[in-house]
Amino acid sequence: MREHRGMTRRRALGIGGALGLLATTGLSAAAALARRPSFTGAQLRSTAALPPPFQTPMPVPSVLRPVSTSEGADRYEITQREATLQVLPGISTPMWTYGGTFPGPTIESRRGRKVIVTHHNELPVPTVVHLHGGRTPAAHDGYPTDLVLPAAWSHLALHGGHAGHGSAGGHGMTDARAVVTNRQRAYEFPLDQRATMLWYHDHRMDFTAPAIWRGLAGLHFVRDDVDDALDLPRGDHELPMMIADRAFDADGRLAYPALDPTLTGQPGVTEAYLAGVLGDVILVNGAPWPVHEVDTGVYRLRILNGSNARHYELEAVAENGRTLPLVQIGADQGLLAAPVRHEHLPIAPAERYDLLIDFGGLPVGSRVRLANRLGTGRTADVMQFHVVRHGASAPIPDRLADDLPEWDRSQATVIRDFAFRAGRMNGRHGWLIDGQPFDPARTDVTTRLGDIEVWRLIADVHHPIHLHLVGFRVLSRGGAEPLPHDAGLKDTISLRPGESAEIITRFDGYRGRYLFHCHNAEHEDMGMMANLEIV
Ligand code: C2O
Ligand code: CU
Ligand code: CU
Repeated sequence: MREHRGMTRRRALGIGGALGLLATTGLSAAAALARRPSFTGAQLRSTAALPPPFQTPMPVPSVLRPVSTSEGADRYEITQREATLQVLPGISTPMWTYGGTFPGPTIESRRGRKVIVTHHNELPVPTVVHLHGGRTPAAHDGYPTDLVLPAAWSHLALHGGHAGHGSAGGHGMTDARAVVTNRQRAYEFPLDQRATMLWYHDHRMDFTAPAIWRGLAGLHFVRDDVDDALDLPRGDHELPMMIADRAFDADGRLAYPALDPTLTGQPGVTEAYLAGVLGDVILVNGAPWPVHEVDTGVYRLRILNGSNARHYELEAVAENGRTLPLVQIGADQGLLAAPVRHEHLPIAPAERYDLLIDFGGLPVGSRVRLANRLGTGRTADVMQFHVVRHGASAPIPDRLADDLPEWDRSQATVIRDFAFRAGRMNGRHGWLIDGQPFDPARTDVTTRLGDIEVWRLIADVHHPIHLHLVGFRVLSRGGAEPLPHDAGLKDTISLRPGESAEIITRFDGYRGRYLFHCHNAEHEDMGMMANLEIV
């Protein structure tokens, strides 16, 4: 086991290495950028009465039952609809949901077994479903203009399915390649990929951030024999945990500073929130600062940061102030080669970690707080584990997976540079990639199926950068070694202010039009997305 203690290996921001790129992209104040606070976004203040922490039991999203499992595929049906949920105790909150719950139902799948999910759109707006981290053919990847129109909009789609011009949203852009459907769409997922926890969420052009905020997110597990053979904690000792922040108005409604609250016209958020929308309530699986009863055994935590813009640095603290190690066994795209031990662990929007935590050695009755070191006041708490009984301890394996791709930079056919920074877009503030806002009609990168490439990414402020279709390895950060939490196969990398990083991947799987973008969802909606064409 590689052992790393928290921040001790964290290096100074890679300003040296970043400077060259910053200069060429017209940024000069690299040092000033590096001193910016580590959060991105502005925090809404709830006016609803907020509950005390660690009272609400942590829900575990229910696993969806397939409607059929014959003909080589598991078929599911999900209705996207409005539902009034009790998120804060005793308070009703209208939300947009997958199947009436937040998070949506969890889908359990096996590597290589096809899953077909038919989504029915009963919401008042068009939607698009993307399976984040899925190796999915382009036609089913949830491209932002491949809209599923609600019944009231169906006159916009021609001939029951293939509209020549999908409306791309508030900018009046049209996308000739969009495939628009009426009311429903069957998404097919081959899931020919390593076991891991994926998540599905809305991905509509210009309105992804508010749609996720209103509740359109759910978890999706891929299992395989490699994972099963390790005999890791399972059943009630494996806990899916979608962490997300929200804010609530006095009447229980979700607060969100959308310019157009109907989410049909002008996209974007009010001036103060351009850097991202933060809530002051931390939810785990839709419950505020919950508590979960555990035994003295080892638990497997499958954590997703499903927040729009909030970064967390997780730390498990016992009542005596002792920190429990978070033993990382997996990253966004599955198991690591060997466990990595963390005292605390940063997690950016859309990142996932697969962690083991051992409550052995704690007396029954003790409490362990999962804290957020980047939070202040109530956002410094996430949830609490309450140790209520004895449990069997389990060994933590030394070796995990031996199938991680080991790409070498000498194999790369090309090295590409991308700058992620603020700029102007349609006369307003925007977030740009190489100076340009997203345009579905422009191909930004063309790559050949099977090619290995190195991408050098540089950020002005915090940007979690996500590639569709592929997993990648982190080669360097700030011109130095990757950080301990960069281990394994990733699909989202968190660039810190002023920081550069190099990633390497092979573009294999499927040809077609894919995306890469910042997963600060407000940045994504305000331009920070680009097209990747695999030919
Ligand atoms: Cu979480 Cu483009 O995706
Ligand atoms: Cu994705
Ligand atoms: Cu960003």
